[in-house]
Amino acid sequence: MAITAKPLPAGFGIEIDGLDANRDLSDADRTMVLNAFHDHSVVVLRNVFMDDDSQVRFSQVFGEVEVSLGANPSSGTKFSRQSNIDIASGGLIPPDDRRMAYQKGNYLWHMDSSFKQRSSLCSILSAREVPPEGGNTEFCSTRLLYESLSDAEKSKLDTLTIEHDIRYSRGLTGFKYTEQEAKNFQTAPHKLVRTNPHNGRKSLLIGIHAWRIAGWDDEPSRQLIDSLNARAEATGIYSHKWLPGDVVIWDNQATLHRATAYDTVKYRRLMQRTTIALP
Ligand code: OGA
Ligand code: MN
Repeated sequence: MAITAKPLPAGFGIEIDGLDANRDLSDADRTMVLNAFHDHSVVVLRNVFMDDDSQVRFSQVFGEVEVSLGANPSSGTKFSRQSNIDIASGGLIPPDDRRMAYQKGNYLWHMDSSFKQRSSLCSILSAREVPPEGGNTEFCSTRLLYESLSDAEKSKLDTLTIEHDIRYSRGLTGFKYTEQEAKNFQTAPHKLVRTNPHNGRKSLLIGIHAWRIAGWDDEPSRQLIDSLNARAEATGIYSHKWLPGDVVIWDNQATLHRATAYDTVKYRRLMQRTTIALP
């Protein structure tokens, strides 16, 4: 099958059909998908129908796959599972279950693993079961945000370091870590401005885990972070409606993403995520 590619409507992102990502990629396909990722920040692959083994193999094209931490049901493996399905029983998880409360954090704009000492290059999410309505994943571009800033703003932001902390962000949704889970986390300082090594384009590492600007007072720090998050969203949103077989790769240095609601009592949703560490 021939490979086709078309840009997505929000000024970033590209959709590719016909790439057999379940096989070892040829050198040409590997270069094509890596270039698409670096240039477009979000890559939607259609009709892949990936399983866990091929997802790990495909993820390694991008780098080293992280082991997940904390309260996700897949914690301690190479996967984070976003789902209302109880894997042991195959039935639905009730809405008041802690596992569902944890996933509410995904409704807020974020970058995966920005709260780790080593932040993430990208995530890969593959659809295993998709609801017929709802449950879109939305994206916006902090590269487009950076490129829209004035020179004065760029040089101010260039000097800043932001401390990310998932204990802060999960607290916002009312989720409480156990003491044991909380031991996995500490504050992670990262330079705000990021540069893509393949094309030199800059972006901002922000999102809900961004807790405070190193060395700043709380109030101006909160104001700046909130305003950058809002301005990123205002540059434009791509809302991905999942089809069976989809795989989406996103840049965790240059895009924010969030989950959207679906009827978790009526429909089944199972998504498997791998996350690749920044080299
Ligand atoms: C994730 C995530 C969004 C979704 O897996 O990192 O934020 O729509 N998922 O499930
Ligand atoms: Mn996420």
